[in-house]
Amino acid sequence: MTSAPTLPIRVGIIGAGEVSQVVHLPTLQLLPHLYKVTAITDLSLAASKHASSKFGVPQACATVDELVKLQNVDLVLIASADEYHGDHAVAAINAGKHVFIEKPLCLTRQDAERIQDAEQKAGVQVNVAYMRRYAPAFEIFKQLVAESGPVQYGEGGTLPVMSWPMQSRHSLICQRIRPHAAVVRDLIGPNEFFVAQSGTSPIKFVEDIPAGAANDKKAKAEEQHQAFLGTKTASSAHLVGAYRWLASVGSHSLSLMRETFGGLPDRCDAAHTTEKGDFITAAFRYKNKGQGGGFAVSFETGLHGVGVFDSFIEVFTPKRIIKLQYDTPFVKGLPITIIIREADPAIPGSYQERVIRPTFVDAYTSEWTVLAEALEQDKPLKTTVAVSASVRGRACYPDLGECSSLTCLCSAIHSIRAGRRA
Ligand SMILES: NC(=O)c1ccc[n+]([C@@H]2O[C@H](COP(=O)([O-])OP(=O)(O)OC[C@H]3O[C@@H](n4cnc5c(N)ncnc54)[C@H](O)[C@@H]3O)[C@@H](O)[C@H]2O)c1
Repeated sequence: MTSAPTLPIRVGIIGAGEVSQVVHLPTLQLLPHLYKVTAITDLSLAASKHASSKFGVPQACATVDELVKLQNVDLVLIASADEYHGDHAVAAINAGKHVFIEKPLCLTRQDAERIQDAEQKAGVQVNVAYMRRYAPAFEIFKQLVAESGPVQYGEGGTLPVMSWPMQSRHSLICQRIRPHAAVVRDLIGPNEFFVAQSGTSPIKFVEDIPAGAANDKKAKAEEQHQAFLGTKTASSAHLVGAYRWLASVGSHSLSLMRETFGGLPDRCDAAHTTEKGDFITAAFRYKNKGQGGGFAVSFETGLHGVGVFDSFIEVFTPKRIIKLQYDTPFVKGLPITIIIREADPAIPGSYQERVIRPTFVDAYTSEWTVLAEALEQDKPLKTTVAVSASVRGRACYPDLGECSSLTCLCSAIHSIRAGRRA
């Protein structure tokens, strides 16, 4: 059992790439009363050394093993490639370290269970980086949703899992589906566009990466795709693309849905993706919740080429429409706002719009701040691994806690598989 760390918590970082250079290292530097980064490692030693000298990290380690065993590391931040999250988390946990793991937690149910088993055995805490849920605006949004009456129920029925030509599809939707209850959107431009304008000047190092590392990553990815998708479909580009996109970006929204609506959707009525799997639309349904027994969520996520980050969750209740709008996390200080549209109680018959901006503090800073307090005081975390024991071992719909994307993903992937590609 690892004891609660004292402040400042000593952090070792695995992965000196973009998110570490642009987000985590600057954020941790601004929180010296809570954290001190003591070591960093990367496949590229040049990347570790660069981050070490730019951000004043005393030690650049040659290997992950060396870093996780350091006495002066209380917590390991895992910011390496998705394929290695499972291995790196287990190595850090087995060395008795608390873990802050970048999303996605991992890419397979097997890895999620491995991480949870190790976590329970070692008595450490693992936090999964769904930072959007730590934004102060999210707390206000949830409160507004809770006090605004039931989420509206679209009782029109189910969209069959298939593709129609646009004309007939539209008319089908009009005939059978009443307005949805929530809209969740994550349509974003390329990271590099925002990073280039963030003023953080990250550098990518690849030249000194050992020969064989790229092949190892590729083999690991293939193994994980097969474990998740099954051998027959693991080679279908649109399914692999959808799986990776949902796990990496869609998981943010799925995680927000989980907390806003008190759990994951009960089913995915339909889902659709492009050839590359990088643009996905899905219709999720929550049963036995809201007005009349349930409600639907219209979900869309995708990557486009324009420098716009359009990410929100919008909930329709009888009283008001409440929207929580996020901007890119790669630029520090961009506000996260709540937009409320409703009847104006002060002027009968009129309508009002309000914008609430609780703070300019970014969600990562909030997350790291909440985490320090929880670890120091040995309090439970919010975004945990939390594999539900009741569904462990089920073949296809594992409840993977903050790997929640995988549950929805299974559902959406089944739906996409049953339909046709766009
Ligand atoms: N929370 C968020 O919004 C958010 C945003 C960006 C990235 N991320 C996540 O952070 C992680 C890193 O993303 P990134 O954009 O920095 O990627 P990146 O490719 O820029 O950096 C990853 C770094 O990890 C290193 N690495 C890869 N495999 C390794 C291994 N086996 N051992 C040691 N080092 C290894 C690479 O050399 C690279 O420098 C990903 O899991 C990504 O999904 C999360």
